[in-house]
Amino acid sequence: MTRKLVVGNWKMNLDARASAALAREICTKITPEIKTEVWLTPSFTALTSVAAELQGTAVRYGAQNVHWEDKGAYTGEISAPMLKELGCTFVIVGHSERRTLFGDTTETVAKRAAAAFRHQLNVVFCVGETLEQRNNGQTNQVLEQQLNPLISLLQDHQLDLLTIAYEPVWAIGTGVIASAEQISEAHQAIHRYITKHFAKWTGRVLYGGSVAPDNFAEIVALNGVGGGLPGGASLKSQSFVELVQIASEV
Ligand code: 13P
Repeated sequence: MTRKLVVGNWKMNLDARASAALAREICTKITPEIKTEVWLTPSFTALTSVAAELQGTAVRYGAQNVHWEDKGAYTGEISAPMLKELGCTFVIVGHSERRTLFGDTTETVAKRAAAAFRHQLNVVFCVGETLEQRNNGQTNQVLEQQLNPLISLLQDHQLDLLTIAYEPVWAIGTGVIASAEQISEAHQAIHRYITKHFAKWTGRVLYGGSVAPDNFAEIVALNGVGGGLPGGASLKSQSFVELVQIASEV
């Protein structure tokens, strides 16, 4: 059975020093019997200090975004080779905050993923519906629309690099968590849709959106849930490591 994966999305929090301290605390609290895979996503400026703390541990680190070109006149962007140089092994792509606040579209998100794949970076590809879309019964349709450009660029040899995160927009940072039934349905729809196009894909689908130690055990045990993508709960070593422990016990 594939191990569960917990990816901490630190968003635009913690400077380089505080990030290093958190990474260090997390590593000391993760005991050898914990089976969960752990990935951390500090801000760009903290990647180097976090990398130093994670050296020699099984915890991996990556970035919260990536540009689709390797270099050029793209002020304010960061490329896949730059992230590789710092030892990143994955990137988050298409987070709903990027889509709603920074103008990422289904197409630009797919281009970002393509660049990551080209450079052998794992991709945590985020999808999720708004409350309005859910209330209109459009959830599966929205998920498919968000996945389509990814599916058209994905190549067989890149399948192992793909992880999906299902994050209903209305559950992010709100304390409102999707129900077990809603999560199960969405995860199964995502698995079905990707394997319809790529029968060999065995990647994980993570759940994100108000994940916390008191709700994660039920979620991570659901069929089709490969782990979690916590935001707020990943900013404290205690709550984050609790999530990691919970995922290890499933
Ligand atoms: P919260 O866990 O703070 O709701 O954030 C979820 C998220 O956006 C992770 O990418």
